[in-house]
Amino acid sequence: MQLVRFTRFGGPEVLELAGAPLPIPGPGQVRVRLTAAAVNHADLALIAGSYPLRPRLPATPGLEGAGWVEAVGPGVTEAHLGERVILPLGAAAGQGTWREAVVVPADLLLPTPPALTDEQAGGLWVSYLTAWALLTTDWGEAPGPALATAAGSSVGLALGQLARLLGRELVGLVRRPELAPWLLTQGYQRVMVAEAASADLREERERYPLVLDAVGGPGVAALLRMLAPGGVLVLYGTLDPAAAGFAGPELLFGEKRLAGFWLNRWLGRVSAEEREAAYVTLLGWFASSDLQPRVEQAFPLAEVRTACQALLRPGRRGKILLRPTPAGQGP
Ligand SMILES: NC(=O)c1ccc[n+]([C@@H]2O[C@H](COP(=O)([O-])OP(=O)(O)OC[C@H]3O[C@@H](n4cnc5c(N)ncnc54)[C@H](OP(=O)(O)O)[C@@H]3O)[C@@H](O)[C@H]2O)c1
Repeated sequence: MQLVRFTRFGGPEVLELAGAPLPIPGPGQVRVRLTAAAVNHADLALIAGSYPLRPRLPATPGLEGAGWVEAVGPGVTEAHLGERVILPLGAAAGQGTWREAVVVPADLLLPTPPALTDEQAGGLWVSYLTAWALLTTDWGEAPGPALATAAGSSVGLALGQLARLLGRELVGLVRRPELAPWLLTQGYQRVMVAEAASADLREERERYPLVLDAVGGPGVAALLRMLAPGGVLVLYGTLDPAAAGFAGPELLFGEKRLAGFWLNRWLGRVSAEEREAAYVTLLGWFASSDLQPRVEQAFPLAEVRTACQALLRPGRRGKILLRPTPAGQGP
């Protein structure tokens, strides 16, 4: 089988295709033929060597994926053969999903709702579990609408759709005006158009008890001003890699708080029951089409470098996927 690997840290140019023996499932395991595997910002950081989890080289990226059960190991019923399945986060830890097949414990796999295409199923959890965790964590904030930056991002879209289902009022901030009408149909009550770092936001009078920020950088100063006294700014992304800037008095006199969020820590922090409940609830909403993941483009493994560049393309709407197994090669 083919897989993507890198033997040194760097940009997409360090990625190469390599061959490997098809893995044999052991007791309690199955081999999943992967039809889709998302490209996430965390993958780019992993490849660059800047992610907090530094892999041993050579390594294969990929946190999430979906496909069908191609082979079962001892103790696993053959009734599972051909089932469409989704890997939960962590199931392919140590292997990476940018490969044609993975071997995983059978009891970890999640069923793919018929309402989802393979490509949608291959890129759910990094966006939707992050949005779920951000909206269901008790940040100790006062009641009121939350503000989400980069609302047109994959996490931003998931936040909008989930906020509607959870009955949470959400206001979006985007830098691209054409996104606003679309986001108003995706669960956002209001959408502001401005760069977070821009002076336009000085005119904004509304104050928010919670800000969910994917951008960071100098814009954090304006976002802190938009927090209500006692409010919490949760930084969960650094789309702007510049150092975050803010005025101390804003924080001090407003008794405002800055918090960080990393899904990896959340997954380790919550109980197995809470994790399970999140997966089950989200799968139910994917099955009923109350949650509708958006895919921008899918690439064959051989075009992995282009796929990584596509993730950074401005104006994109939806996930970038790899298609390790070509369309039409079903079970
Ligand atoms: N903490 C966690 O556990 C966690 C989990 C998931 C994701 N994340 C992070 O969350 C962020 C969003 O991830 P995603 O997968 O949802 O991203 P995405 O789908 O790639 O969307 C990012 C969007 O943000 C906009 N953007 C980029 N740079 C910006 C800037 N400097 N200022 C304002 N908007 C900007 C771009 O929109 P336009 O080009 O259209 O304007 C881009 O389409 C990333 O930083 C990712 O690493 C963190």
